[in-house]
Amino acid sequence: MVFTRMPLEVWFDEYQFEVDYDIGESGMKFLSVKDLGIDLNKVELRYGYHLGHPDLRKEIAKQYRGMTQENVAVTTGASEGNFAVIGHLVGTKDHLIVEHPTYPSLYQIPRSLERDLSLFRLNWGNEFRPDMNELRKLVKKNTKLITLTHPNNPTGSVITEDELKEAIEIAEEAGAYLMVDETYRDMMFDSPPPLAATMSPNAISLTSMSKTWGLPGIRLGWVVADTPIIEAIRAVREQVTICNSSLGETIALEVLKKRERLLEGLRKSMLSNFRILKGWMDNQEWLEWIEPKSGVVGAPRLATGGSTDALCKLLVTKYRTFTVPGSHMELDGHLRIGFGGEHEELVKGLDQLQLALKEIHQ
Ligand SMILES: Cc1ncc(COP(=O)(O)O)c(C=O)c1O
Repeated sequence: MVFTRMPLEVWFDEYQFEVDYDIGESGMKFLSVKDLGIDLNKVELRYGYHLGHPDLRKEIAKQYRGMTQENVAVTTGASEGNFAVIGHLVGTKDHLIVEHPTYPSLYQIPRSLERDLSLFRLNWGNEFRPDMNELRKLVKKNTKLITLTHPNNPTGSVITEDELKEAIEIAEEAGAYLMVDETYRDMMFDSPPPLAATMSPNAISLTSMSKTWGLPGIRLGWVVADTPIIEAIRAVREQVTICNSSLGETIALEVLKKRERLLEGLRKSMLSNFRILKGWMDNQEWLEWIEPKSGVVGAPRLATGGSTDALCKLLVTKYRTFTVPGSHMELDGHLRIGFGGEHEELVKGLDQLQLALKEIHQ
């Protein structure tokens, strides 16, 4: 078992703090404690409940029809939830299927654990939509877990309710679980498919406060699933993080209590930024894309083909603008553009990208 660094995170660690314009991030604008106006003075900095504070678990459960707090495990970001689910469900003799492209830890954890992994590929030719016939073909007798990410990072594709039902059926027939990473689900352009965990005991919902809420610094996400999975997560996390940050839990609870009202404003800002990016792409001669259907990321590619590594490096070093080279998400030829940040930063970042594109095409 060997854990190696993921190129995406190496890129973030190296450049994210060195730029003037960040148009590569995959979430909404980062917030500060001051923006939130939450009084943290009375928060006890003690160890917390291992599955999350009951009030927070209860608040989260409200979103999931038919679920109670017993079905909720609050974790250190979606990252820990993902690690715990894979670690628990997929043993050395088991097989798992991971939709690809996606956030890299979804496939890198199984690789690090040396598990038998098949990638379920989303293709440009199919507008990055998941093809359930292809998924069926990948199932083996020992398949224990299938993971999907929708809205997808970095392509912005979205699974339909019928496709989701079919994926659950495929998992159930195989005696496997389906985990859907729903980190971007609150950032749907229109109404989202149902939350996976509400559809079957074999389905698991994974999500995070990092993207929609602009709060990756609180390191808080959760898993909603059947109770045996939740208990397994408790066992895994007691060996890794024990519990969540009490500051993070307090902030998450306060934000979730105002969820619907806050979402309204966030959606407006996301859609207006999307229109800016779409307008810019409509006039692009050097890039082409499959338009994202939701979320705040898209993955255009160079119209002439070839890697975007040199473009993204030039952009970040000379033009001080951050995007993500597709090769860092095993999607070479593309680059990830994020449109969840400040309106003005997006406009300026796209201007810089235009200059860098011009320079590499001279
Ligand atoms: C689809 C997806 N899942 C999980 C994560 C990890 O997020 P967190 O900050 O909640 O650990 C990311 C981060 O980019 C992501 O895009």
